Amino acid sequence: MLLPPLSILFGLAAYCSSLDNGLLRTPPMGWLSWEHFRCNTDCKTDPENCISEHLIKSMADKMTEDGWKELGYEYVNLDDCWSAKERDSQGRLQPDPDRFPSGIKALADYVHSKGLKFGIYSDLGNYTCSGYPGTTLDTIDTDAKTFAEWEVDMLKLDGCYSNSSVKAIGYPKMSIALNKTGRPIAYSCSWPAYEGGLPPKVNYTILGEICNLWRNFIDIQDSWESVLNIIEWYGNNQDKLQPAAGPGRWNDPDMLIIGNFGLSYEQSKVQMALWAIMAAPLFISSDLRTISEDTKYILQNQLLIYINQDSLGIQGQRIMQSHHFEVWKRILVNGQFAVAVMNNGTEGIPRLFETNLALMGILDCKEGYKIYDVLEQVFLGDFALNTTLNIKVTPTGVVLLFLRPLCSFTDFTKPVLRA
Ligand SMILES: *[C@@H]1O[C@H](CO)[C@@H](O)[C@H](O)[C@H]1NC(C)=O
Ligand SMILES: *[C@@H]1O[C@H](CO)[C@@H](O)[C@H](O)[C@H]1NC(C)=O
Ligand SMILES: *[C@@H]1O[C@H](CO)[C@@H](O)[C@H](O)[C@H]1NC(C)=O
Ligand SMILES: *[C@@H]1O[C@H](CO)[C@@H](O)[C@H](O)[C@H]1NC(C)=O
Ligand SMILES: *[C@@H]1O[C@H](CO)[C@@H](O)[C@H](O)[C@H]1NC(C)=O
Ligand SMILES: *[C@@H]1O[C@H](CO)[C@@H](O)[C@H](O)[C@H]1NC(C)=O
Repeated sequence: MLLPPLSILFGLAAYCSSLDNGLLRTPPMGWLSWEHFRCNTDCKTDPENCISEHLIKSMADKMTEDGWKELGYEYVNLDDCWSAKERDSQGRLQPDPDRFPSGIKALADYVHSKGLKFGIYSDLGNYTCSGYPGTTLDTIDTDAKTFAEWEVDMLKLDGCYSNSSVKAIGYPKMSIALNKTGRPIAYSCSWPAYEGGLPPKVNYTILGEICNLWRNFIDIQDSWESVLNIIEWYGNNQDKLQPAAGPGRWNDPDMLIIGNFGLSYEQSKVQMALWAIMAAPLFISSDLRTISEDTKYILQNQLLIYINQDSLGIQGQRIMQSHHFEVWKRILVNGQFAVAVMNNGTEGIPRLFETNLALMGILDCKEGYKIYDVLEQVFLGDFALNTTLNIKVTPTGVVLLFLRPLCSFTDFTKPVLRA
């Protein structure tokens, strides 16, 4: 066996050190209330869609009934607006009594009984973004303890109503407080998003040591413009962002809005493909009770999920841009690759992108690669490094390719394809 010099080993170890709670070795997958359900607290006139234990339970039911859980979607996460407007007499956060009459512990028990995990939200600041009680520096330990007693599995800590100095103290402090509870609680930090998301203001070495995932950029909204804007920002800043990610420590470009109102079918594929390439958390924020079969087909694509969950945990990068085409590439385990060719243009007909493996820097296996079209779920054939690939991409659409080396000795499991 050839050993790399020790300096390289140590260098890597130092660089990749991540929060030592053993969690999220691959990006988290699940459901999160915010983008679709927002701060709807009106259970009188909208009982089915208000933030309540009923909503969370019905999503947990759907996740087990409709095959989400088997595919890896395991977190059912509350966002803002779950709590009462005041802390209890002992200074602890408490749920709104009308919307969560059974309490959060009972709700977590329910989610756990389905074989799923339960996540909650708080905000490092005087108030949450929607004006509920925040976690201030002096309540961090109490809140961590409360969440652990409720058997919460993930905490998203937002950053409204506090300044940079409070955040610099509070985010690491919560990490320690969570650890001290003894309960493994995945920790999602909104910190970088409040500091512009880029070094030198944001120190990703520190983030990787204290958080499992973090929002880097602005909130996603229900539109194509928002999805494209996020993709462009990650592409434009990839040199700084891409090295920050790895097993246990993920950049979070925010929730999947697939299944809502703002994206066309083709645009929905773009979000899913690019989130897979970016090793992004996959938190669906739509209504699993009414989601269409078409939408499910995109969100439940097993080969795409395999790419997203790749064990190396290396975030992909944009490698080419021309004429409204963008090519993104992700290195996967055992010499495999994923490539997304996106057409961000709006000319009506599908446009042709001509390339080959060599041009995309995929040269490791001289014999060539097996190529699969992930979204169409078909095998395209064996390709030599210089064989032309004619890729037709719809306007505001994407083609996602999965590549397997022909020269590999690895015994790969067969990808799941269209029947
Ligand atoms: C707390 O941190 C220690 C040391 O980093 C680690 O070994 C342990 O697993 C952590 N515990 C939890 C519950 O996160
Ligand atoms: C939070 O509350 C403290 C104490 O009342 C106050 O000094 C501070 O300005 C508030 N911060 C923000 C960002 O509202
Ligand atoms: C930040 O907020 C804290 C707590 O509210 C306050 O004590 C501190 O002076 C603030 N710092 C700045 C730079 O505004
Ligand atoms: C980031 O934090 C790490 C760990 O505390 C430190 O060693 C490093 O110098 C910081 N980087 C920058 C650019 O400040
Ligand atoms: C679309 O892609 C081109 C590269 O082909 C890029 O220059 C442009 O910024 C992208 N436009 C948007 C709105 O993302
Ligand atoms: C493609 O590569 C093969 C093997 O390296 C070579 O024999 C062939 O001439 C090349 N074809 C073209 C069109 O360059």
